[in-house]
Amino acid sequence: MSGPNSLTIWLTIGMGLGLVAALIGPTPTRLPDRLAVIPDSAVHIDNHIYDKEDFGWDDAEHPLKLVNGARIPYFVDTLREKLGKGPLKLLDVGCGGGIATIEMAAAGFNVTGLDASAISVKAAEKMAKERSLSIQYVHGSAYSLPYHDDSFDAVLSSDVLEHLHDVRQALKEVTRVLRPGGVFVFDTINRSVFSWVVIIRLMQDWLRYIPEAVHDWKLFITPTELRRALQDAGLEPCPSGAQHGMRPTFRLNPLSISRRLIKQGPGAFIDVWKQDMFFMGGSYLGYATKP
Ligand SMILES: C[S@@+](CC[C@H](N)C(=O)[O-])C[C@H]1O[C@@H](n2cnc3c(N)ncnc32)[C@H](O)[C@@H]1O
Ligand SMILES: *[C@@H]1O[C@H](CO)[C@@H](O)[C@H](O)[C@H]1NC(C)=O
Ligand SMILES: *[C@@H]1O[C@H](CO)[C@@H](O)[C@H](O)[C@H]1NC(C)=O
Repeated sequence: MSGPNSLTIWLTIGMGLGLVAALIGPTPTRLPDRLAVIPDSAVHIDNHIYDKEDFGWDDAEHPLKLVNGARIPYFVDTLREKLGKGPLKLLDVGCGGGIATIEMAAAGFNVTGLDASAISVKAAEKMAKERSLSIQYVHGSAYSLPYHDDSFDAVLSSDVLEHLHDVRQALKEVTRVLRPGGVFVFDTINRSVFSWVVIIRLMQDWLRYIPEAVHDWKLFITPTELRRALQDAGLEPCPSGAQHGMRPTFRLNPLSISRRLIKQGPGAFIDVWKQDMFFMGGSYLGYATKP
């Protein structure tokens, strides 16, 4: 199901449960400056979770696979519109197990995936082999990309910025490796009341749809902050009208839900994620160009 029908259900469930969660939850605190270098001690986030062998990158219903429905068309359409149909070199920074990387390769990009977790990179290589797609994978850091200046037509960072302790350094590196005219595409999570209640309290703390300590709300980034960081790094952010939000659609068939409920818990209710033109309180997609 999709359309206004599932949006209504989404809002009703989210707000109803969320309101209760917000009432009993601790009050979130903010960092003095999200764009400063954040010491480990200031946040509660486990970036080593991706080093666990059982992180489940190859799970057919991995939450990041469900967001592909919203993000992959945005990335592909944006890059093709800005850069044309020819062969394009794309760097996927923080590629993890390659869930987005592999779809970008399937869409015809010449993709390099880079991630700080060697174990995730190995999982990504395995997946590429199974699908017979040629992708270069590299174990490395977003803060010091192992490439010359102007090496890529495009850079992608999907669900990564909200995990970074030094967003400015990562964006500086993105700008450096992009060729002039190159495009950076991303999605990340807004630091809003909505993301506190629904993503942190409900999905992560309560329902465990997202594992514990994957996200710290303090590290989420508002579109305004990100725009400033992109500009300071030397990129030209897209007009705000070109940013899209994301929202999940729900499975409403009781048979398919009950089959999945045991394995997936409450995540069984979430079908694919869709782009939403108006709502950017949760995950949002955007791009920026190197002049
Ligand atoms: C939520 S996962 C997203 C994975 C992938 N982009 C996707 O959307 O399917 C975040 C990834 O960022 C990686 N990461 C976090 N900090 C990083 C850094 N400083 N340099 C490179 N990768 C980093 C993690 O190892 C993890 O694989
Ligand atoms: C893709 O890019 C790599 C370097 O990043 C290059 O070695 C390779 O030849 C390219 N492949 C194609 C098909 O253009
Ligand atoms: C993102 O969150 C901020 C802070 O709550 C809010 O002011 C802003 O309206 C949100 N952005 C969108 C597009 O929803």
